[in-house]
Amino acid sequence: MTQHLTAPAHTRDSTRPGWWRDAVIYQVYPRSFADGNGDGMGDLKGVRDRLPYLKDLGVDAVWLSPFYASPQADAGYDVADYRAIDPMFGSLLDADALIRDAHALGLRIIVDLVPNHSSDRHEWFKRALREGPGSPLRARYHFRPGKGKNGELPPNDWESIFGGPAWTRTEDGEWYLHLFAPEQPDFNWEHPAVADEFRSILRFWLDMGVDGFRVDVAHGLIKADGLPDLGGHDQLKLLGNDVMPFFDQDGVHAIYRSWRKILDEYPGERIAVAEAWTPTVERTANYVRPDELHQAFNFQYLGTAWDAVELRAVIDLSLDAMRPVGAPATWVLSNHDVTRHATRFANPAGLGTQIRTAGDRELGLRRARAATLLMLALPGSAYLYQGEELGLPDVTDLPDEVRQDPSFFRAAGQDGFRDGCRVPIPWTVDGPSYGFGSGGSWLPQPDSWAALSVEAQTGDPGSTLELYRSALAVRRARPELGAGDAVEWLDAPDGVLVLRRGGFVCVANTTSEPVTLPAYGQLLLASSTVRVDGDAAEVPADTTAWWAV
Ligand code: BGC
Repeated sequence: MTQHLTAPAHTRDSTRPGWWRDAVIYQVYPRSFADGNGDGMGDLKGVRDRLPYLKDLGVDAVWLSPFYASPQADAGYDVADYRAIDPMFGSLLDADALIRDAHALGLRIIVDLVPNHSSDRHEWFKRALREGPGSPLRARYHFRPGKGKNGELPPNDWESIFGGPAWTRTEDGEWYLHLFAPEQPDFNWEHPAVADEFRSILRFWLDMGVDGFRVDVAHGLIKADGLPDLGGHDQLKLLGNDVMPFFDQDGVHAIYRSWRKILDEYPGERIAVAEAWTPTVERTANYVRPDELHQAFNFQYLGTAWDAVELRAVIDLSLDAMRPVGAPATWVLSNHDVTRHATRFANPAGLGTQIRTAGDRELGLRRARAATLLMLALPGSAYLYQGEELGLPDVTDLPDEVRQDPSFFRAAGQDGFRDGCRVPIPWTVDGPSYGFGSGGSWLPQPDSWAALSVEAQTGDPGSTLELYRSALAVRRARPELGAGDAVEWLDAPDGVLVLRRGGFVCVANTTSEPVTLPAYGQLLLASSTVRVDGDAAEVPADTTAWWAV
């Protein structure tokens, strides 16, 4: 049972200077959040209707995964028109209304920007294909003749992250590069028209009033000169951390310096956050130097087991890497590409971030709640993924015939389990799709989700939703939780973390046994019941507790 011993007011103002340094940013996956028009697919109207829920939850900003015009070969990460909304999500008027309503509530809006590749239905790519080899329009993408006697072999040995070759041959015999699906041709960022176009797209959305961008595959835009073969190097897992000639090339940084100038021209601290998978956190820090982007996702943290030694190491490493460049650390446990943390922690450690088994659900949820309280006690900015506040597990038993993730069809079991974290979220106890919408749900929801719905959890002090609400309320009332760039570690038994930040102490017991520790002060919140007896406190297994000292 959650303990909530205080009910602090919402005191933080989202217009305050440096708002993004400790912001809690909630990821909305539009197709799975709320369906406003009853077609079984989430949309902008659905998001707009639910903004008060997000305000009440206590987040500072909302990041929306792509809603642009797209054939949806990769759930919208294949953009056909960067300045239009896909009709399945609504219209530009809906986007405008959403941004205005969010601002009126004091919520910031961050949109996804997909600069590494377009859709194969993007006007530029369609024309490049039509105009044939030698057309200057082909230079905006990576077209090449093939190898072999008749050009029948791909230009190099790169494989797509979704499986299969990273090259597709066109009818006229040339090949084009796609690090992801064939429907996602990579732009050639050495071409000035590409850079100009994206500067214009940035301005389009900044003029619409958005507060920032999440930059998709930010580490992929520049490829090594000559597109060299990988040779014997192992091919990729989905966005791994290896050094690759198509990832984390130094040339990407000039792009972000030019974008920062644009962001800084606009009032109100507009930001950008990099999705950059790099070999080391130091390389990640390069993306957030003072004249580049503001934040980068901390995937090392996301991949860390529920283990005190490993967690402490990654927390120290992350803070140490960001401090020299003056950027805030960021923390994230779940997103639309990985198995939800309630399911990762339900399984043995070491299985990675794509897991196919449900594991021990009760244990997973208990650890997930504890992991969230630890994350929200760290300095910097934290990202939440829709539904984690309900303690949703991944849906690990989706039948093959309902799956939509392109990697499922291309990778033959390597990845392709991303649909499990994309199942529409339950709002109500009853109804055809538990309140997601009146027209069903594009992926089937498990029956057990009625009990996990917003309606079922609201007002239940033991629920995960109320734990998140309380945690975010405490964080807003006590700015020391997110502020600064360091934590002070206090002595603790094996398997336990105790960190102090000003007048605040966070205790995380990652072991499967209760521990007796000092009662550090006034208990603010705990992920399961902590018993205080005089100067001592018994912190149960897999539990995090927050104290005011
Ligand atoms: C996004 C994925 C997407 C890929 C290609 C990733 O980083 O988060 O969902 O499939 O980029 O755009």
